[in-house]
Amino acid sequence: MLHEKAAQAPIDPVTFRKVMGNFATGVAVVTTAVDGTRFGMAVNSLASVSLDPCLLLVCPKKGSATGDAIKRSGVFAVNVLGESQQDLCMRFVGEEASRFDELDLDEDNRGVPLLPGSLAHISCQLEAVHPGGDHDIIVGRVVDCSLETGNPLIFHDGQFCRRAA
Ligand SMILES: Cc1cc2nc3c(=O)[nH]c(=O)nc-3n(C[C@H](O)[C@H](O)[C@H](O)COP(=O)(O)O)c2cc1C
Repeated sequence: MLHEKAAQAPIDPVTFRKVMGNFATGVAVVTTAVDGTRFGMAVNSLASVSLDPCLLLVCPKKGSATGDAIKRSGVFAVNVLGESQQDLCMRFVGEEASRFDELDLDEDNRGVPLLPGSLAHISCQLEAVHPGGDHDIIVGRVVDCSLETGNPLIFHDGQFCRRAA
């Protein structure tokens, strides 16, 4: 049987963004280093993918400095931000040139920067890069992870929020 699809108008990206903004997420900064130069960007496109093996994904926009650096280094870390780290998050967005200046940075054993005060650190090996429209779907294999106590920074409807007490 032949199924003919009626031509559908493309979804307006602004509407899609607004709709997806109602899916509340945490906030993380993805970091890496290439030849001693550090890179990092804020993301909320973080998801757990698999438990055996432990895999996660993040989706940097195509051409993003940090996404390209991850593809070159083959390693990255996810720094899950706590509720008091909104200002830190905004260092890792836009034209901020000095993203890592004056931070009391730690490093994992591959030299990837770890942000101080984060709720969790997850060190990953690059597993795969899949196409995702104007973004890349970067899959990481978890090689190390640690957790602190505290409340997460939350992003909802374009705003940072805190969990109700
Ligand atoms: C809360 C929040 C979440 C974000 N999530 C993403 C994301 O998942 N993917 C993305 O490409 N950009 C995301 N951005 C925007 C990037 O952080 C921003 O474009 C950044 O400047 C990219 O860094 P780069 O130039 O080093 O790649 C987010 C911004 C904020 C404030």
